[in-house]
Amino acid sequence: MASLTIAGLSLVYPNGTRALDSIELALADGGFLAILGPSGCGKSSLLRLIAGLETPTAGTIAMNGRDVTSLEPKERDVAMVFQGLALYPHMTVEENMAFGLLARRTPRPEIAERVREAAGMLGLERHLAKRPRELSGGERQRVALGRALVRRPQIYLFDEPLSSLDAQLRQELREELARLHRLTRTTSIYVTHDQKEALSLGDQVAVMSAGSLRQVASPEIVYRQPHDLFVARFVGEPAINLIEGEITVEGSGTTFRAPGFRVPLNGARARSGPATLGLRAEAIALAPAPGRDGGRADSGSEGGENVFATVDRVEHLGGETLVHLRGAWGALVARIHDAASAPSPGSRVAVRPDPTRALLFGPDGARL
Ligand SMILES: Nc1ncnc2c1ncn2[C@@H]1O[C@H](COP(=O)(O)OP(=O)(O)OP(=O)(O)O)[C@@H](O)[C@H]1O
Ligand SMILES: [Mg+2]
Repeated sequence: MASLTIAGLSLVYPNGTRALDSIELALADGGFLAILGPSGCGKSSLLRLIAGLETPTAGTIAMNGRDVTSLEPKERDVAMVFQGLALYPHMTVEENMAFGLLARRTPRPEIAERVREAAGMLGLERHLAKRPRELSGGERQRVALGRALVRRPQIYLFDEPLSSLDAQLRQELREELARLHRLTRTTSIYVTHDQKEALSLGDQVAVMSAGSLRQVASPEIVYRQPHDLFVARFVGEPAINLIEGEITVEGSGTTFRAPGFRVPLNGARARSGPATLGLRAEAIALAPAPGRDGGRADSGSEGGENVFATVDRVEHLGGETLVHLRGAWGALVARIHDAASAPSPGSRVAVRPDPTRALLFGPDGARL
């Protein structure tokens, strides 16, 4: 097992594509880093650099403090599970799994033992004599994982290893990977563009965009304290609610306002000026709007309701219910856990954002 330190790492492909730009990354020995980002942002390129399959234009890669930047892939003791399957079709499962060890001249009895052990962990014992075409997609994926597993390397690199599988199998193998990591504690980097996968597997999550790292932090911090609007939008399901408006600081306190919308903000964390308010679906509570028959007035000041919305649609998703709302400021999605208390479509509701969970972003997209 190894720690990994990446400094100032950049990659420009021969055709001029700037794939990575000054990446800084430190991964502790035994850590599990999930790299999350949209297609084309440079995730595979970063893994290929760590594996030694590409040469950086600038920067260094160190393992356990030793500079490996100029080492050949086979000198790095890194095992990579590639994006898309790359099993040898003419070899059996056993031969596929043993191949990397044979190439490294590992003694035969040891190869046999490691393959047996990995097959056991992955539930592949019954399939060892089969060829890839005789296996289901999920079984093939397990063989690809097994090939990396038998290597017992210092670092595992996983490049979207589950992307070709259906939802249930993904879930199963995700659990399997988490379990294997708990068992082996091998430093791992796992690339995905599935945020659920990244948040559930990584003890650290790195969010990338256009060749740069936007934020590297624990799953909880990435979700609760996104560094900027890109991270806030990319992480979380349903997507974070964003409202364009303005912060006003007056004698009575700081307030975020948009047409038909206001939230008091505690503390003096912001200056007056244009801003974007971010609210997760669970940071919005709903209450019945006061009735027309003389209830409270629409814009009561002392603790009265400030924001009203019309219910567009109610989405029942089993364990949770999403309420889609519309108001002068735009659209919002609120998450409620008691389906029975969901308001009916077309009705008016009072919207109560939790000010303690309000995220504010400045015009440049950085969180305030
Ligand atoms: N061999 C190559 N030569 C030139 N450009 C490349 C090469 N490989 C990748 N690129 C470009 O570099 C950028 C990053 O590609 P990369 O494969 O690292 O993205 P990715 O984040 O893994 O995307 P995906 O999620 O689609 O797999 C893209 O613009 C891509 O077109
Ligand atoms: Mg890729």
